[in-house]
Amino acid sequence: MTHILRLDDTWALDGISRDRVNLANSEAASQLQALLTRTGRGAEYTGWLDLPVATTQDMLARIEATAADLRNRSEIVVVCGVGGSYLGARAGIEFLNSARSAGVTPEILFVGNSLSPWHLSRTIEKLVDRPFSVIAISKSGTTLETALAFHVLRDELRRRYGPEGARERIVAVTERVRGNLRSLADEDGFAAFDMPVDVGGRYSVLTPVGLLPFAVAGFDIRAILEGAARQRSAVTETRYEDNDALRYAAARRLLNAEGRQVELFADFEPFLHTLGEWWKQLFGESEGKERKGLLPASLDYTTDLHSLGQFVQEGTPCHFETVVDVPAPVDVTFTCGASSPDGLAYLDGRTVGAMNRQAMLGTIMAHHDGGVPILRISLPDVTESTFGAAVYFFEAACAVSGYMLGINPFDQPGVEAYKHNMFALLGKPGTEAEGVALRTRLGEQVD
Ligand code: PA5
Repeated sequence: MTHILRLDDTWALDGISRDRVNLANSEAASQLQALLTRTGRGAEYTGWLDLPVATTQDMLARIEATAADLRNRSEIVVVCGVGGSYLGARAGIEFLNSARSAGVTPEILFVGNSLSPWHLSRTIEKLVDRPFSVIAISKSGTTLETALAFHVLRDELRRRYGPEGARERIVAVTERVRGNLRSLADEDGFAAFDMPVDVGGRYSVLTPVGLLPFAVAGFDIRAILEGAARQRSAVTETRYEDNDALRYAAARRLLNAEGRQVELFADFEPFLHTLGEWWKQLFGESEGKERKGLLPASLDYTTDLHSLGQFVQEGTPCHFETVVDVPAPVDVTFTCGASSPDGLAYLDGRTVGAMNRQAMLGTIMAHHDGGVPILRISLPDVTESTFGAAVYFFEAACAVSGYMLGINPFDQPGVEAYKHNMFALLGKPGTEAEGVALRTRLGEQVD
């Protein structure tokens, strides 16, 4: 089968017996059955399993038509969202943009992914004299970061184009029946796509959350879903010994049981950086609960070989690496002449891509020899189809790995704690007493 992700565990599981590996793989297969039969924890949030084959032609046509309209109106489209309502779209656009030359319009900007006044104000500056539109994405419709940025942008649209013009330049993606973003869409009359109730934020890339920004950026969303569908078949129909998503889930659990507590997503291309951010959120928010889970971290090589590479090679042996291997969509031939005096003549005429590859292979062997288990996941190319396959591969592996760990991979109770305090400190109605108590603990003057 082609155009799906492949796992090489040669340099990760060589210290673990074949019997243990087989047992873990078969346990992963059992947990996949729990996932597919909707009998595991959080089964009410497993709608993502079928998105590649269940998304209707009507929905795709509506996304494409809306995207075409935004593209016609805009030099810039600003996407407001955070967490699962942001990272997948950004990861896909950065991944796929790598195969294009620069300067493609509309430019896609992302806001609402922090409370940074600097970032918001610099983004607004970029919109001066340039026609723009806004996509606001929030499943709950109550996320502060997204809501604040959206209000600022809606005001700017109204100032520039009037209420009617603003209405035509805003599209929301949110839950159908609840939340403030839905109320604003109903009141203002701007277009809104429904976010499926049974798909959580970090598993939502293949809903309008990701598909609308991808279509606006000019990518083929049907090919993305087709690649995801191909990977879905590989996950659900391949026997467990050869099922790479299951083997990846099992390898993570085996290495965790061996005492590894950190998984490093290591890429050798900057256009994979945000895929690493998306992967961190997917695994971190899914597994990190009940005082369990691997800490997911990411490294961009070879840049980080000159930084954290020292720790990876010789530091506290708390980690294993998952090297993500994808051929760059472009290459550069290095020429310096056969008698270059700087010692580089042996590289004359070779491509930088070929050198990057040797750097990757050399790093794998060096880190392995330093005692670091290394998984390698290969993506065949930089295409829409492969991006869709990658999304499904990691989502399925994450859910299975979470079930093997004995947690619910589809909730995120821990993210409420900081919000509770932040809203109390901001004086949200109903939280005044907690705000006072927090300020006292913080040693600040009570207002
Ligand atoms: O994965 C998740 O559920 C979260 O990361 C959410 O996506 C994030 O908190 C944003 O939530 P919302 O889409 O409700 O604004």
